[in-house]
Amino acid sequence: MEKIIEIKNVSYGYKTEDGATEAISGVTLDIKKGSFVVFLGHNGSGKSTLAKLCNGFLLPDSGDVLVNGINTKEEKHIYQIRSTVGLVFQNPDNQMVASIIEDDIAFGPENLGVPRQEIIERVDWALDVVGMSSYRTHTPFKLSGGQKQRIAIAGILAMHPSVLILDESTAMLDPKGRKEVLETIKRLNKEQKITVILITHYMDEALDADKVVVLNEGKVLLSGTPREIFSKKEIIKKTKLELPIATYVSSKLVGNGLNVPLSLTDNELVEGICQLR
Ligand SMILES: Nc1ncnc2c1ncn2[C@@H]1O[C@H](COP(=O)(O)OP(=O)(O)OP(=O)(O)O)[C@@H](O)[C@H]1O
Ligand SMILES: [Mg+2]
Repeated sequence: MEKIIEIKNVSYGYKTEDGATEAISGVTLDIKKGSFVVFLGHNGSGKSTLAKLCNGFLLPDSGDVLVNGINTKEEKHIYQIRSTVGLVFQNPDNQMVASIIEDDIAFGPENLGVPRQEIIERVDWALDVVGMSSYRTHTPFKLSGGQKQRIAIAGILAMHPSVLILDESTAMLDPKGRKEVLETIKRLNKEQKITVILITHYMDEALDADKVVVLNEGKVLLSGTPREIFSKKEIIKKTKLELPIATYVSSKLVGNGLNVPLSLTDNELVEGICQLR
């Protein structure tokens, strides 16, 4: 599979009064076109910083980030890069620009010079995708946190990005809303071939990923399939991440002498236990 984002030995530090703190140190990582990638890591491990480096919102202090082969440091291509890699920020309040929802969603495509009629179609489509069509003419400011997140996702989708990065975008949703948004994202990945980078602290959201990347203190600690990652339970524990519930229970059972396989899902765990009879 073709690489859509290449992160090559990238370091980045925020300049603060007490000097620079290195948030990302020597990260090398490829994101394949059409893949579903999950970034995991405890608070402050560098997930949001890495996301912002992926779309040129931040530029590396050293190393390079290439999007479709274009270096994010090439200023003349920055708008193209930001519309290729759509980033939904962690806090939706920071990304509302207009006082009417449809204008807010139209803002991105307008800046891209999309023709009027197509903008209307894109706004319709994006609102439908996130299940917010009936709010079209409302103001975004009175919405709940979860609804604001959906609008923020719609605003990015309306730009038709090739890559969608969601930075803890389901964190403010209730379990039902979280499931709906997640299913939508998976559908966009499967049907529209949009590459997805999902930043989350819900382990169950990582189970279907093609690749899971665990960040720790600004470095890639682990990278692999969910099964490869969650079988390294000692390392996961050290990074203060939790195991998926079925993985945790299966490892406890093994610890108590039962011969069940390492399970990622409830179904696998139940099957493993039934095999014991
Ligand atoms: N604007 C900033 N100025 C200074 N330091 C920052 C800034 N943003 C992040 N940092 C620091 O950079 C490091 C990485 O932060 P980052 O926000 O990328 O982590 P994160 O994994 O997204 O964390 P969280 O799970 O809390 O969202 C942390 O030590 C953080 O304190
Ligand atoms: Mg973050």
